[in-house]
Amino acid sequence: MGITKGPLVRSLAPARHEGATKNIRNVSLLSAYDRCMSILKHETTQGSSVKVDALVLGVAQAESGPELLAAGHLQSKYAEQLQSALADLGMTGAHGTVTRIPSLGAVQANSIVLVGLGEIDEDAIDLEKLRQAAGSAARSLTGLGSVAFGLPIHSEEQLAAVAEGAAMGTYTFTEYKSGDEKVGPDTVVLLVSKAAAKGMDAQGVLSRAAIIAKHVMLARDLVNTPPNVLSPAEFADRAAAAAKGISGVKVEVWDESRLAKEGCGGILGVGQGSSRPPCLVKVSYSPRGANSHVAIVGKGITFDTGGISLKPAMSMVTMKCDMGGAAAVLGSVLAAAEAGVKTRVTGWLAIAENMPSHTAMRPSDVITIRGGKTVEVLNTDAEGRLVMADALALASEEQPDIVLDIATLTGAQMVAFGRRVAAVMGDLDVVNEVLAGAAATGESFWPMPLPEELAAELKSPVADLKNIGSPNGGGMLLAGVFLQNFVGETPWAHLDIAGPAFNEGKPYGYVTAGGTGMGVRTLLGVVEHRAKA
Ligand code: BES
Ligand code: ZN
Ligand code: ZN
Repeated sequence: MGITKGPLVRSLAPARHEGATKNIRNVSLLSAYDRCMSILKHETTQGSSVKVDALVLGVAQAESGPELLAAGHLQSKYAEQLQSALADLGMTGAHGTVTRIPSLGAVQANSIVLVGLGEIDEDAIDLEKLRQAAGSAARSLTGLGSVAFGLPIHSEEQLAAVAEGAAMGTYTFTEYKSGDEKVGPDTVVLLVSKAAAKGMDAQGVLSRAAIIAKHVMLARDLVNTPPNVLSPAEFADRAAAAAKGISGVKVEVWDESRLAKEGCGGILGVGQGSSRPPCLVKVSYSPRGANSHVAIVGKGITFDTGGISLKPAMSMVTMKCDMGGAAAVLGSVLAAAEAGVKTRVTGWLAIAENMPSHTAMRPSDVITIRGGKTVEVLNTDAEGRLVMADALALASEEQPDIVLDIATLTGAQMVAFGRRVAAVMGDLDVVNEVLAGAAATGESFWPMPLPEELAAELKSPVADLKNIGSPNGGGMLLAGVFLQNFVGETPWAHLDIAGPAFNEGKPYGYVTAGGTGMGVRTLLGVVEHRAKA
């Protein structure tokens, strides 16, 4: 691959310096991520006899009022007393509400935590509601050592949902707090009745749940890490460190000179304004016996100032989340590997910092993407599609069965879908696989079209393409149409997670404040499904 047209490498390399970042310690607290693999346990004992700091029980919102679902976890006289006190405690059973009361000797645990499950049908519990309720309960348990969950669990799916929600809800990010911060409980016991446990592979379910939660937390940690610390090089180092010791996984890091050799003018162009050089990380998981290959490309802008097309101050504050796509790719590939999923997965993390400086791209610069297509950059804030273009081209060259890409790509995604729902667009079959993966794992994705006529919007008078269209609305779709130019014939879907990648508001369910890890579970779901198909 030769460099054909357009400038690829900066002419004036600025001095590389890390500045004040060096003074920030990497505090070696046991992070939630590290704790995750040992946190989940299961027991077939009853809630009344388990020795923990708190016992979580569910309350349903029935027509007749709140209904305690103690399912044998309390002796019947206590269960009756507690049932009759629910209304006085202000419990309605509304989904996600949490009330903590002293156990007063009713159980060995010091306190009982009542969590609202909403209007549920015990025979057909909505798994995501259960997952979210377990998460709400878990978030109220920071500072406690050990907790037990006595929620309705009649099947492996329900056990998985409670385990995942509970584990993800224990997440805290305390790395940069200098005080003695309270962290989540270090033991979470899932109580399963003897009858329900029969024929269940409870240990298998819990280890998959722990793997999921661990890699969601990895993605959250990466997003939450401040951008002065998480430079492109630091991101690459952390990817390599996270992959270390997971069998079947290989990590390759391409620096600037390798990127230039490979013709990656998008990543280089976006990164050229920063004193901290861009890079590309390829994470390959190749299990024996795989008969499907999935490539996943992630946007890894460690901070998006907008570049010379500078963002307004208010729009910039959350832009450390702009590497959330790449974090989700890393999380999902490593989760698939740790779970031993029999699908080959190649993750491509396109990493750069988008800064304004005397070396930054100018609006109207022309760059050359991997494969030779040229792009007139009319807005340096539409940088995600430029780094993604290189990585999509690279990913497609290997001719995987499908290519997925995931990115905090457009403000328009957030305008259209808000903060909790992500968008997916592309080839219909692949879009449907993504929707199935999302439904199976409890993430919220919704399909959007890629109207053909939008291609005309991206015609440039001087290059093959321009990176923005006229302001006619549909910005999310236009970004998707731009990316489509770089996937070739490979079946493909594009996931825009601009809204849901970062929770600026209050925590809810198992979704804590800050980075959410959005995408990790859906991508894993697709990869798992491909192993079974
Ligand atoms: N990183 C932003 C998109 C974004 C916005 C992510 C809000 C998360 C929350 C992206 O690089 C961007 O700035 N896109 C521009 C594109 C425009 C200039 C065509 C946007 O959406 O405004
Ligand atoms: Zn931008
Ligand atoms: Zn961006």
